This record gives sequence, structure tokens and C-alpha cells, in this order.
Amino acid sequence: MDRQKVVIVTGSSSGIGLETSILLARSGYTTYATMRDIDKAKPLREIAINESLPLTIIQLDVTKENSVSNAIESITKSSGRIDILVNNARYGLTGAFEDLEIDEIKSLYETNFFGLIRTTQSVLPVMRQQKSGIIVNISSGLGRFGIATSSAYSSSKFAIEGLTESMSYELEAFGIRTIIVEPGIIKTNFLKSSKLARKATDPNSPYRNFIQNMEKGMKNLIENGQDPRFVAEIILKAIEDPIPRIRYLAGKDVEQIMQIKSKLSDEDFHIMLKKMANLK
Ligand SMILES: NC(=O)c1ccc[n+]([C@@H]2O[C@H](COP(=O)([O-])OP(=O)(O)OC[C@H]3O[C@@H](n4cnc5c(N)ncnc54)[C@H](OP(=O)(O)O)[C@@H]3O)[C@@H](O)[C@H]2O)c1
Repeated sequence: MDRQKVVIVTGSSSGIGLETSILLARSGYTTYATMRDIDKAKPLREIAINESLPLTIIQLDVTKENSVSNAIESITKSSGRIDILVNNARYGLTGAFEDLEIDEIKSLYETNFFGLIRTTQSVLPVMRQQKSGIIVNISSGLGRFGIATSSAYSSSKFAIEGLTESMSYELEAFGIRTIIVEPGIIKTNFLKSSKLARKATDPNSPYRNFIQNMEKGMKNLIENGQDPRFVAEIILKAIEDPIPRIRYLAGKDVEQIMQIKSKLSDEDFHIMLKKMANLK
């Protein structure tokens, strides 16, 4: 591995982004750990200082044009190149589809989808000039199948999957690889940082039982979820894979579900997921 490679990670204040930044820096990558709120940098900064890691923390809010361009400009200026971008920042939105208001869905897409587009488009001119680079897009098992009360989040991940597949054809011609990483259920701030749709809290919502059912189920699943360091390991493996793949599943649960999905009809898979979620 070329130890001088320069990597940028978005959403490094917690969870998968935090662990990926630490692991990549420990593995010798010149790491730019970016986060929208620099006040959350203390734990990462302490690790970087204690271990003398090649890690710099930079402010980057994926929803803000200026924040993205300033961050990418300053990284390019100081490092002279960008080898890998890990698009990780996002948040979740829980609510039955009919209960979601357009502004809530737009705001989720502004982070999860347009934020990824904004950041990727700002590094591509540098990678194209270098004739090399890797874009790692963090999707989800929910980028391959939907579940109740997650239509906005799941569709944003499906959008990332389609976007990544499409752009891969164009970017390969310039030596740029694209990778999709699909984590299963991982023990992070996922639920804490997820928003609940305004109408979902209405006790008269016809979908109230879906929300209660899902909140209870997800809490349990996340508490027993895999360590985010596991996903960081998969990201490192994907970046360094001598036989590159387009997709990397990250979690025993999502591996199992995808294996089952490949053997079932869409209708049978639908019935299986309903049973798993205790839905009628
Ligand atoms: N945890 C899971 O079970 C799971 C499963 C499948 C996929 N994933 C994917 O894994 C990735 C990381 O999620 P996680 O589980 O590690 O969740 P997390 O701990 O909540 O981390 C999300 C990160 O995104 C950041 N973020 C949110 N909005 C941002 C913005 N506008 N600009 C920059 N950063 C922003 C958050 O920053 P703040 O601290 O400022 O909010 C935080 O650092 C996501 O793409 C998620 O979809 C997670």
C-alpha cells in the first residue's frame, strides 16, 4: 500500500465515520477527518495526538456549498492530491410515507444524496487530473431493499446505489474507481441522530402502530448491532482490494438477508420481511 495516499472522510464526528478515520490514519493514510460541527472533534483529536496519527480535522458540512468547496480547496492546497473520498455523512428519518412532509424528505435528501453529490463533484476534477482516485459511497442494506417507516432514508440509499453504478462507467475512463459499502445494523448514534417525522408523533396518525413497532424493533437491533470498527475494516479492505468489487456488504445480518434475497422471488422476500418485522 502506498502510505502517502490522501483520504477524506465525511461525517467523522461519530460512528462509522469516526472509526474509519481512525483506522485509515492508523494504517498510514494521510487522513482528513471532516465534520460539520468542529466542537465534536475532541475525542478524535485526542486519539490523533496521543498516537501521532497523520490525521487532520477539517470543518465540512455536506449541505453547504461554501463549506464543501473551502474544505476541498484547503485539503488540495496542503496535500497536493486527493486519492480517496469516503462519503459517509447522513441522517435517518422515521415516519410512514403518508406522514412525511415534502420539506422533511427534501432536507434528508439535501444531506444524504445532494451532500454526497456536492462533495464528490468537488473532488473529481482533482482525481481526474491525477488519473486516479477512489470514491467510496456508504449505502446500506436499505439501499437494496425497503422497510416500513424508512421510505425517505431507504430511497436516498437506493438513489446512491443508482448514482454510483451510473457514474462508475464514466469515471473508470479516468482511472477513478467507485465502491458501494452496504452496512447492516451497526451500533452507532444512528437512532439518536435520526429524526422522527412531525406527523409520526401524532397519536391520531393511522400509521402510529407501524412507528411504535419499528421504534421498538430498531432500538433492540441497534443495541445488538455490530461494532462500527467492523465497517471501517471493510472500507479499508475495499480500498486496498487487489481484485476490486463494486459492492461490499458490511455485516453478517445484511450478508444473510442478501443471500436469502438472491434465492427468493420479490414477493416471497416481501412476505419474509413482513414476518421479520411482525407486520400483518
Ligand atoms: N448504523 C447503522 O446501522 C447503519 C446501517 C447502514 C448504513 N449506515 C450508514 O453509515 C453511515 C454512517 O452512519 P452511522 O451509523 O455512523 O451514524 P452516526 O453515528 O449518526 O454518524 C453520522 C455522521 O454524519 C454526520 N452528518 C450528518 N449531517 C451532516 C452534514 N450535513 N454534514 C456533515 N456531516 C453530517 C454526523 O454529524 P453530527 O455528529 O454533526 O450529527 C455524523 O458524524 C451513514 O451513511 C449511514 O447511512 C449505518
